[in-house]
Amino acid sequence: MVIFKKVGDLQAYLSDKNKSHSGVNFVPTMGALHQGHLSLIQLAKQHSGITVCSVFVNPTQFNNAIDFEKYPITIAEDIALLTDAGCDVLFLPSQQEIYPDGTDKAPSFDFGYLETILEGVHRPGHFKGVGQVVARLLDIVKPECLFLGQKDYQQCMVIKMLLEKLKLDSKIQLITAPTIREDDGLAMSSRNRRLTPSQRTIASTIYQCLVSIQAKLQTEKFEVVQKECIDLLKDKGFAPEYVSLANATTLSLMDDYNIDVPMVALIAAEIGGVRLIDNMVLNPVQ
Ligand code: PAF
Repeated sequence: MVIFKKVGDLQAYLSDKNKSHSGVNFVPTMGALHQGHLSLIQLAKQHSGITVCSVFVNPTQFNNAIDFEKYPITIAEDIALLTDAGCDVLFLPSQQEIYPDGTDKAPSFDFGYLETILEGVHRPGHFKGVGQVVARLLDIVKPECLFLGQKDYQQCMVIKMLLEKLKLDSKIQLITAPTIREDDGLAMSSRNRRLTPSQRTIASTIYQCLVSIQAKLQTEKFEVVQKECIDLLKDKGFAPEYVSLANATTLSLMDDYNIDVPMVALIAAEIGGVRLIDNMVLNPVQ
């Protein structure tokens, strides 16, 4: 695996490589890599061309300074994992490379409704920051395929909209991959590293709630299941931010189950200062 820290060096390499390869498959990350990220690398490698992964902890998408400060950084481990996974190129830029004119000068995108619900409400400015960094990374890497994890369901929708706004939707194929889970169902996340052993044990409650939302979709009212989930999460020591049901295509929030539309359940909850999110696309029982 080749590692580049400078935009110019990466671009020189990619333009050269592109002569002999049929495209760039791009996996943007903030590092502290886990099996979820590696599944994206594996997926990218199934496409022809070369696989580029970026590791950059983007300051503009953190609405909480402590969350930014405490975001795990494990570069040596990340390099070893990416090398083992057969990633071709790692882009490891500094903040100066990504925001040469400062973060204030980076373009700002309006994601409309998506910024007014769920993560948009609980992390004000978060999606503006995601839009800024992804637009910049796409401009640098110029990929044919972009790989994202469905654990960040709303982020996938925001980035799809970003591609449309940048008129890149016909040039870049957005490929989303299923959430990878620990044995007890906890969605893999870089933030899981910050959980204490006892918090880690109960963290799978979020997944249990999603499973119960799925299991009860034809027998209960959503508000009943929602309250059960909130009570359970609180009982276990979580501060739940939302337990919501939405149309899986538009993300418009739903008061109750409707098996005639695609549905997704989404949860955000904090434990010991660590904020976890997860979701599950719901299918009516056949
Ligand atoms: O999902 C992430 O890790 C980040 O939000 C992303 C897409 C790499 C942008 O910083």
